[in-house]
Amino acid sequence: MIALRRAAQGDEAEIARVNVEAWRQAYAALVPPAMARAVTLARRRPMWQALIGRHETTHPTWVAVDAAAGVVGFATGSPAGSPVEGFQGELHMLFVAPGFQRRDVGRRLFHAMADGLVAAGAGSAVATVLEAPSAVGFCQALGGVALGDADLDIAGVAVHQTLFAWPDLANLPTQPDLDP
Ligand SMILES: CC(C)(COP(=O)(O)OP(=O)(O)OC[C@H]1O[C@@H](n2cnc3c(N)ncnc32)[C@H](O)[C@@H]1OP(=O)(O)O)[C@@H](O)C(=O)NCCC(=O)NCCS
Repeated sequence: MIALRRAAQGDEAEIARVNVEAWRQAYAALVPPAMARAVTLARRRPMWQALIGRHETTHPTWVAVDAAAGVVGFATGSPAGSPVEGFQGELHMLFVAPGFQRRDVGRRLFHAMADGLVAAGAGSAVATVLEAPSAVGFCQALGGVALGDADLDIAGVAVHQTLFAWPDLANLPTQPDLDP
């Protein structure tokens, strides 16, 4: 059984593990090798310590926890400070561990985060995603509207990004079965 809850102090190491494993699986081949090598547990763990310890109000985080495997997914967003005018919130990151994908964990995390942002006063949100097939397919499946894209030149490698928007988080097109 996989249950969702808000992240708490003590989750940092497990969130960082999922962050690194899922990031490498989805994105390592798309970015320069030096950028991929920089995504490590040693760097992500203190980042998560700071986020959960000091910024939980501005960057609320949800985790999906498997009874046996521990944290297998997470989502973090921000109800304020959208980089795009006309939108209120931002989805910063949503990752599911490679061994637990395509089991609705990402969908459930997205809905938990959307409900949290709406409760915090953000009825809309945007997300900038690197253009991996899983990221684009997921955002489209969750009702994201592509607002635009851009090619970034990172150390000579063209990295494609897409900006997705959710104009009405309270009325997402697909509601999950919330029973785990
Ligand atoms: C994208 C990601 C979060 C999906 O997590 P997940 O738990 O496997 O997603 P779900 O099982 O809830 O899938 C929901 C829907 O998204 C779409 N989707 C998910 N993974 C997909 C993939 N690899 N390719 C195409 N579409 C995909 C499907 O429509 C899926 O519905 P279906 O399984 O009924 O067909 C996961 O692959 C991941 O961590 N990727 C790296 C980070 C990332 O891209 N995050 C999202 C952008 S912020």
